[in-house]
Amino acid sequence: MNITLQGLTKRFPARGRKAKGETTAVQGLTFEIPDGKLVGLLGPSGCGKSTTLNMICGLETPTAGKIFFGDEDVTKLPPELRGVGMVFQNYALYPHLTVLQNILFPLENLKGAARPTRQQMRDKALAAAKLVQIEGLLDRRPKELSGGQQQRVAIARALVKEPRVLLLDEPLSNLDARLRLQTREEICKIQKKTGITTLFVTHDQEEAMSISDFIVVMKDGVLMQQGAPQQVYDDPASLFVAKFLGTPPINVFAGEVKGGTLLLAGQKALTVPGAPDGEVYAGVRPEGFVPAAGGPVECALNRVEVLGRDTSIVCTHPACQADTLRAIVRPEQLSGPMDGTVRFALKPGKVFLFDRKTEQRIHTDATRA
Ligand SMILES: Nc1ncnc2c1ncn2[C@@H]1O[C@H](COP(=O)(O)OP(=O)(O)OP(=O)(O)O)[C@@H](O)[C@H]1O
Ligand SMILES: [Mg+2]
Repeated sequence: MNITLQGLTKRFPARGRKAKGETTAVQGLTFEIPDGKLVGLLGPSGCGKSTTLNMICGLETPTAGKIFFGDEDVTKLPPELRGVGMVFQNYALYPHLTVLQNILFPLENLKGAARPTRQQMRDKALAAAKLVQIEGLLDRRPKELSGGQQQRVAIARALVKEPRVLLLDEPLSNLDARLRLQTREEICKIQKKTGITTLFVTHDQEEAMSISDFIVVMKDGVLMQQGAPQQVYDDPASLFVAKFLGTPPINVFAGEVKGGTLLLAGQKALTVPGAPDGEVYAGVRPEGFVPAAGGPVECALNRVEVLGRDTSIVCTHPACQADTLRAIVRPEQLSGPMDGTVRFALKPGKVFLFDRKTEQRIHTDATRA
């Protein structure tokens, strides 16, 4: 079942007598989560991600706009009738209940005809526990579990009612790096297996990129861009999105376009046919630099870092907006010892131009579809 948000808006009133103005947490948000897909909702802290999730599950009432599950307008439907499973930002297990009791809890709260028999409840709880591989821990209490195990209990609890929609709010934020990686793959697997339409909130772009079918990037309550992860990475609409996606981050230069050529620190760095004359920001992905003797981008070398498979050249350039820029290159591209200066050519597909004032993308003939 697909989920559609139409012009979804949430304003919180000012609190207290002295407080001025209301907070617009979400503004005119419109997007669709296709049936059975996992969409990653991504953006910096405070951009309105949790508020959006809370409106979808019915814990917050939108100030304006509509929410559809399939063709059904659920905007005014109470949360318990929406069929949503939610994992909250802090997983909030009941500390005094065992794992099994925690998972059973949503079923025991069902009323009337919807309430399964004892045996059915137990079967459903066991099936959910199996799905997230915690069937051996059913008698433990939350404090006797690791972070990752607690996480899985929270997911099992969200899945036990066989929801139409699964909402995950930063479900991995309390885990260490390795467990985070493992758990995100597990979530991905469970989502594929169950085919539940899922919205996954995170401020970690790498996490969102790696598990999502589509990503939605938000800033200050407003949708900035949506699309398949790779497509948004390869074709960012604004400097914000370009900077938000990618590790190491994109390198930003203050440059100028003159007669179809990009100038960086006065040097001709790249031909950019069709780009209008004017001051620009040029964003260059770390993998967009090619070491080249006589290359147009001349940098002062700081150091070469070899980390696992990646070789990074860390250097400085007068037009770069950050203290250092980072180029990721293949080891065989490095010839001989490196010191002093290093020169690069730029890969056109890895260079994006943005208007200096609006920070919106400027397309050139090379990038215009
Ligand atoms: N109940 C509330 N009353 C007033 N303002 C609120 C309320 N809940 C959230 N806000 C404000 O709305 C904005 C969006 O908050 P939200 O919790 O949705 O952000 P978020 O993207 O989930 O951030 P984070 O990544 O830190 O969890 C923030 O400015 C926040 O202060
Ligand atoms: Mg949040």
